[in-house]
Amino acid sequence: LVTAVILVAAGSGQRLGYGMPKAAVPLGGETILMHALRGIVASGVASQVCVVLPEGDDGLRAQCDAFREELADGGPLLTAVDGGATRADSVRQGIAALMDGIEAVLVHDAARALTPESVFHRVADALAAGAEAVIPAVPVVDTVKTVAPAADGDGTVAPEVVTGTAARGNLRAVQTPQGFRAATLRDAHQAARTLDPEQAAAVTDDAMLVEMAGTPVHVVRGSTQSLKITTPLDLIFAEGLLEGPLG
Ligand code: C5P
Repeated sequence: LVTAVILVAAGSGQRLGYGMPKAAVPLGGETILMHALRGIVASGVASQVCVVLPEGDDGLRAQCDAFREELADGGPLLTAVDGGATRADSVRQGIAALMDGIEAVLVHDAARALTPESVFHRVADALAAGAEAVIPAVPVVDTVKTVAPAADGDGTVAPEVVTGTAARGNLRAVQTPQGFRAATLRDAHQAARTLDPEQAAAVTDDAMLVEMAGTPVHVVRGSTQSLKITTPLDLIFAEGLLEGPLG
């Protein structure tokens, strides 16, 4: 399948606390964006890589331009576009910039800059085997509960109360790259435009939109190395992984 990777890198990075977009934060001597880009290209799955950047970020755009020069002939087409207000808006910007003839799309978070090549291959292989949608995931180690704000009066004891406990054996922590047939992803994002703001805010990945359309989403094995760099602690883990991967 002729495949594109949309790399969403337009987030603010507020939780990382560097005062700059997360994609621009240094990791092992390069930016998070460059690690993510190199990982995608090394996997060899992409005919096109479409990077979605914070609007007006000339520094990150310059890195993309330099990387385009660095890619030898025969490397993927590298396209850079501006992102939107939400992650889904940013993905839609990427979809709009796909070249003709793309049959499959992998949507990847720049924040998962250290995703092993093997994960890209498992996702691409499932698409090649006929899946319309496929996501990488790992088992959940924590017990996960739903909570609600404590009722008036109880709030003096603790701010929240438990409303339920999910069966851990059925839970998976979902990662990226998430893979889709191009038409499946386009249709799901088109339909998402009609969601009201509250529903739209609850959409945290692309597979969710495909699930809403009733399309089966297949699950392949992810990797603990695909950690989503979100907090300063994650950055410490990521630096450690660069020094000696877990294999
Ligand atoms: O913050 P969140 O978990 O939604 O970020 C996941 C990924 O989506 C990050 O790589 C971030 O750069 C990207 N994103 C984006 N545009 C936004 C918000 C997030 O490209 N408006």
